[in-house]
Amino acid sequence: MSADYQVQNHVAVITLNNPPVNGLGLATRTAAVEALQRAEADPAVKAVVITGAGKAFSGGADIREFNSPKALTEPTLHTLIRTAEGLSKPVVAAIHSVCMGGGLELALGCAYRVAVPGAQIALPEVKLGLLPGAGGTQRLPRVIGLEAALEMIVSGSPVPSEKFAGTLFDEVFPAGTDLVAASVDFANRIADVCPLPKVRERKVEHANAAAVLDAARAKVRAVSAGFPAPLECIETIAAAVNLPFDEGCKFERERFIHLTQTVESKALRHAFFAERAASKIPDVPADTATREIKTAAVVGAGTMGGGIAMNFANAGIPVTILETKQEALDKGLATIRKNYENTVKKGKLTPEKAEQRIALVKGTLDYQDIAQADIVIEAVFEDMGVKETVFRKLDEVMRPGAILASNTSTLDLNKIAAFTSRPHDVIGLHFFSPANVMKLLEIVRGHETGIHVLATALALSKKLKKTGVVSGVCDGFIGNRMVEQYIRQAGFLLDEGALPQQVDQAIEKFGFAMGPFRMGDLAGNDIGWYIRKRRYVEMPEVAYSKTADLLCEQGRFGQKTGAGWYDYQAGDRTPHPSQLVHDMIVQHSKDLGIERRTIPDEEIVERLVYALVNEGAKILEEGIALRASDIDMVYLTGYGFPLYRGGPMFYADTVGLPKVLEAMAKYARGYHGEAWAPAALLQRLAAEGKGFNS
Ligand code: NAI
Repeated sequence: MSADYQVQNHVAVITLNNPPVNGLGLATRTAAVEALQRAEADPAVKAVVITGAGKAFSGGADIREFNSPKALTEPTLHTLIRTAEGLSKPVVAAIHSVCMGGGLELALGCAYRVAVPGAQIALPEVKLGLLPGAGGTQRLPRVIGLEAALEMIVSGSPVPSEKFAGTLFDEVFPAGTDLVAASVDFANRIADVCPLPKVRERKVEHANAAAVLDAARAKVRAVSAGFPAPLECIETIAAAVNLPFDEGCKFERERFIHLTQTVESKALRHAFFAERAASKIPDVPADTATREIKTAAVVGAGTMGGGIAMNFANAGIPVTILETKQEALDKGLATIRKNYENTVKKGKLTPEKAEQRIALVKGTLDYQDIAQADIVIEAVFEDMGVKETVFRKLDEVMRPGAILASNTSTLDLNKIAAFTSRPHDVIGLHFFSPANVMKLLEIVRGHETGIHVLATALALSKKLKKTGVVSGVCDGFIGNRMVEQYIRQAGFLLDEGALPQQVDQAIEKFGFAMGPFRMGDLAGNDIGWYIRKRRYVEMPEVAYSKTADLLCEQGRFGQKTGAGWYDYQAGDRTPHPSQLVHDMIVQHSKDLGIERRTIPDEEIVERLVYALVNEGAKILEEGIALRASDIDMVYLTGYGFPLYRGGPMFYADTVGLPKVLEAMAKYARGYHGEAWAPAALLQRLAAEGKGFNS
């Protein structure tokens, strides 16, 4: 049974029962419709209460039915709502905890709604690139008014139930009330009301609706580039104002179906499922025991160490940072304090909370002070010798059972683990800069990393509000190994005729948060220089454009030196195209004997993105990433890939793999064509007519 039926004091109580959040899947809808019909037929029943078992009224559509024909099988959500609305006896929706999406649409079809305080009320469909498609856009503005409905439907954000006393809810009971008992009393009180109130019969009253809608359109256009759903939400709400109810519903249905077909909605739904899939590791069952993380330590108080420590403080976990010199420690701790103070200034944190968090961060120069921590994350210089010193020391001092993690971005984790006598306790936790902001956490699984350690890292990523994605060991792991190919192409484009600003603009127009050259200036061009110098020795066969080296030879490391690919004015991060860089690039092409050509933006985008796709395919076939959607999560949460395109692998699927291969073959005939050797997996999937995600 996925809806229970009981009669209490002449009131039929229907309890939706489909854990975890009473999703309105087919079985639940069927049981609910049957229960409503039973109540209608029973002469002893005067009224009906619909409520939810466990931790929700209803979270809405059952996500397990997404993309399946079940969602359209009768009784559909529409049928359920129409049944509730058409009953001759009053139906009261009794709401607690969570009432979202289809759950709220069902409640809006009921004659009455009551709630306890603190329930989260939302129509979040816009977050999946959709709009509420079961009457939500037509009924909600009729109940809470135009402006409030616009805000809720366009943002998708939850609002606490107590804010709707007297509007959405006929009654909000005092906290601690027994919801079902109070709802049954309420139902008895209104049992004889005639005719029954129906939301569909109301009008959206507003003196200035056209102006309000126009203002909403202007606001949304400014912020939702690439996402059609927010604007579609506004148009369907406009239909609630301008059209009779049934016509408005028809319009809503049309726009809903249209949105389900858009690439943007498919991309958002892909990302939604990809995030959930990422934490599932085939040989690490969901019930694998995890270790408790009550205290943490970080080695190195530099750029990354400070940000990593803030993550623990934000999660309420005390953290100690270890440095070699007092000066470096003081500097690191001062930066943390300054970061918190800036957050307070922006109004995102109260001064008290900031102080509480700062108090959780301690500094030390003595390994004994971190020896009892449950986890230690090393974030010292990217140099194997330094890592060796630190890990040998950690092995010596850390208590048994402590997790020893490295934030290395390129080095061999298996080698690092081998510096210790407990490689099963060693794992990579690769944070992204700024570590207190970026969502991505690459969890690097060494050959000997224990499954309990891996399960603990996955649980920790959730606690730190990160998206944890597991990667195998290779140079650069998933994200940086792919970005290297992207940056190589960006360099070749300069040699052939493009300028940094053109490359950045083209890829930013595609939707990337930041182009490769602006990114280089932000992160520091010296980091790549250092890595390339290593590669020139270790892998002399791999070619790079020399422009980045020429830039670094002039000390143009980026924003930190006031100049990089762009010029910067003191105290300002705005990039200005540089004549010096222009001349340097043009001269370099000349030295190479290349006649510069005008490169179309389309070529720039294809070369940058397909370079990611091809390397991603290699990473997948080598088993470094478990699934294509994991690679997409890395790019969506760590590299500013446009969310509405779903990540590089999903994007390649939407283009079609044969078309991707065809473009790659064309570029393989051009400058440094050897970079385009296609991944075997890409070729095989294209030949089989498949995609990475299907
Ligand atoms: P950084 O140079 O800003 O900081 C390193 C800190 O480690 C310095 O404060 C230094 O005094 C300290 N340190 C050096 N040797 C030490 C030792 N033996 N014991 C204790 N402290 C020591 O470097 P950053 O950028 O924070 O990088 C640290 C690690 O994080 C590297 O492995 C790097 O590859 C990785 N990483 C860096 C990212 C970035 O964007 N900067 C992104 C992701 C990872």
